[in-house]
Amino acid sequence: MSFTLSHGELPPAPEPGTGAGTAPAAGERASGASALGTLEFQHFKRRLLAIAGFDLEQYKGEQMERRTRQWMQRMGIPTMAALARQLGQDASLRREFLDYLTINTSQFFRDPSTFEALRRRVLPGLLHATGRLRIWSAGCSIGAEPYTIAIILDEMGQGAGHYLLGTDIDDDALERARAGEYHDLHLTTVPVETKRRYFRPTGPGRWSLDPGIRERVWFRHHDLLRDPLPAGFHLVLCRHLLIYLTQPSQAALIRRLAGSLMPGGFLVVGGPEQISLPAEYGLERVEHSIYRRKPADAPPAPGPSSARP
Ligand SMILES: C[S@@+](CC[C@H](N)C(=O)[O-])C[C@H]1O[C@@H](n2cnc3c(N)ncnc32)[C@H](O)[C@@H]1O
Repeated sequence: MSFTLSHGELPPAPEPGTGAGTAPAAGERASGASALGTLEFQHFKRRLLAIAGFDLEQYKGEQMERRTRQWMQRMGIPTMAALARQLGQDASLRREFLDYLTINTSQFFRDPSTFEALRRRVLPGLLHATGRLRIWSAGCSIGAEPYTIAIILDEMGQGAGHYLLGTDIDDDALERARAGEYHDLHLTTVPVETKRRYFRPTGPGRWSLDPGIRERVWFRHHDLLRDPLPAGFHLVLCRHLLIYLTQPSQAALIRRLAGSLMPGGFLVVGGPEQISLPAEYGLERVEHSIYRRKPADAPPAPGPSSARP
């Protein structure tokens, strides 16, 4: 996978040297202080796995360490050992901390050209082939992504009768998704007419999503790195999540997501998350960010030649 983070992307771009493939290997770190810091973080990662079942090893280390330290500073917690102790004792603090770590920035019609391609090139063919679509937004955050698909299907006059699933590891984000209440910030890329039709103003800068759209999406807690993946989908969206994972974890997750697709089904990743060797996952590129699982009669995909997506 090659990451080409562009300015203007919504997730906070990793700071220099902290992500997107720019991190130096452990042995290249400059100062003894940061090496010591990293040892402390190694220990903390093991504690967090034991306390909360959250495997930080699969996420980019420097970015997660930086966020952990930002959190400690904000909460006035002096050491990672103290943080681990507090997390072990306080379930709501644990939840708050994990929510902070798993950045959940999102937006309706995020990367509009991707949704335009889905509307014009992908959904019509799928709808023609099968009347009842199974669609999964994996890492759906506050629900803007699966709701965007529900809106597009509705605009196409094909709104009802599909199974739309949104999953995330962050329970607060899922609660917000179910509530369907949004801020101006989440709607900046919604076309004017779509906004008028599907959102009702509820206060300054506040909007409520049409209940008819809300009831079409099911939300569930799910950890993509630990739980078995559901299968049999015509379309899976997993966007702006892979970028936070280490390369081997990205590759493993792409392989599993490809397995969640029906033959001929589509996988959508984020704009900065291109899969450079899609054939290794039994996928072919259809458009920027959109891949298709080869039909059932295509030859099986070879195993990966390396951990690199
Ligand atoms: C930056 S948001 C992207 C939201 C949406 N897909 C989009 O592109 O707008 C990343 C989401 O991935 C979720 N996430 C991170 N690790 C996860 C995991 N292991 N399993 C499921 N969701 C995860 C986070 O909680 C967060 O809501």
